[in-house]
Amino acid sequence: MTRTDHIAICPGSFDPITLGHEDIVRRALSFADQVIVAVAHQSSHRKTGMFSIEERVALIADVFADDPRVEAAQFEGLLVDFARSRGADLVVRGLRGVRDFEYEFQMALMNRELYPGMETVFLAPDAGRSFLSSTLVREIASVGGDVSRFVAEPVLRRIEERRATRST
Ligand code: PNS
Repeated sequence: MTRTDHIAICPGSFDPITLGHEDIVRRALSFADQVIVAVAHQSSHRKTGMFSIEERVALIADVFADDPRVEAAQFEGLLVDFARSRGADLVVRGLRGVRDFEYEFQMALMNRELYPGMETVFLAPDAGRSFLSSTLVREIASVGGDVSRFVAEPVLRRIEERRATRST
């Protein structure tokens, strides 16, 4: 049996990428030949957040340095336009629970309306990671808490470097 390659996009804010995101991306590799982890941004909002867009992309690249099937990227504007430009046929999103569902379902339907050639795939995270979010990691890190169980080594290092430069 032959089939065409599947290129999946994992879009998000990734400020910063967490172990929860990493789990979803690695699961997506069981059915996608290539996964593009793409940081969405609007140039008018570039200054907001913990890490710049470039730093987020660099951290994603570091986290997946072991797997050439994963690419770190950024895009501005509509996800469907980026997906078309990259020949992607899948969008992958993690669903941490029912609280995510309403918004994710609405986005999936809208994206299909805008680009019928692309399907959204929802993945359940590792059970031990379903409570994780970038927002909570930022909050814990901002008050000096330990986030070592929630982010990969390169992200932790970057958070600690920032902490060190700010406290000198
Ligand atoms: O990590 P997030 O913030 O939950 O990710 C949301 C994201 C980036 C996937 C979503 O806001 C998005 O796709 N933005 C790109 C702009 C776009 O295409 N908007 C229309 C979605 S129907």
